[in-house]
Amino acid sequence: MKVVHTIKDLQAELADKKNIVLVPTMGNLHDGHLQLMKTAGAHGDTVVASVFVNRLQFGPNEDFDQYPRTLEEDCAKLEAQGVVNIVFAPSEKDMYPEPQVFTVQPDPKLADILEGFYRPGFFTGVATVVMKLFSIVRPNKAAFGKKDYQQLRIIQKMVEQFGMPIEIIPVELQRNQQTGLALSSRNRYLNDKELEEATLLYRTVKGVKEALEAGSSDADALEEKAMETLRQNGWQPDYVAVVRRKDLLAPTKDDLLTREPLVVLAAAKIGTTRLIDNIEVF
Ligand code: PAF
Repeated sequence: MKVVHTIKDLQAELADKKNIVLVPTMGNLHDGHLQLMKTAGAHGDTVVASVFVNRLQFGPNEDFDQYPRTLEEDCAKLEAQGVVNIVFAPSEKDMYPEPQVFTVQPDPKLADILEGFYRPGFFTGVATVVMKLFSIVRPNKAAFGKKDYQQLRIIQKMVEQFGMPIEIIPVELQRNQQTGLALSSRNRYLNDKELEEATLLYRTVKGVKEALEAGSSDADALEEKAMETLRQNGWQPDYVAVVRRKDLLAPTKDDLLTREPLVVLAAAKIGTTRLIDNIEVF
């Protein structure tokens, strides 16, 4: 496994490589990321993992400075796994040698709702860095986790609308096998008590899924009840939303009757840590 830090070195490494699969990350890798790598390995010949904490996608009051940067440990995990061929860990100066004045503005209908509503500019930052990584790496495929469900949809739409010759590979969300807690780099901010309580988010989205699959046709009431459960247990929920998988819009009554594929998305704060989770329905 090679670790490269500049665009020039990366492109020299990739010059004779075929069937490249990119896995973009912000580092602080956990088993969820390793699953992304494994899936990437099954889809191509050269796996490139990028590790870059992208300033553009953090709001002014978010955790950019605090975000864990653990490149040495990340590389040790990747080396032990044996799937990744190249780690691309550019410096901020290499990725953004000057302020990034050209940005990718995703469709507000997809990007200003849910996460985008609570984190203004987030998806512009994500789409811009992913577009930039795509043009630097020029992968044939790229793997993205379903944990960031809205991000995955936006990247799929971006690739489709710009006619980019890149296949997007969606990878299932990974959970702690005992508790069901979705794996996330931000779980490391949780203390022991919060770690235990954090599983309520999963139990809540799962409860909504089970009610819908049992025939409940009042998604609004289920969302409200789920928010109330979270509040009563000391959480500050931003949203629990039942939406269609294809466009992230609220389902109609007809969608519920015909069992249109849906997903329950949730974001909530426990203590000072904001977590997201989701579960597909039907
Ligand atoms: O999902 C992430 O870790 C980030 O949003 C990504 C895709 C690496 C872009 O910075």
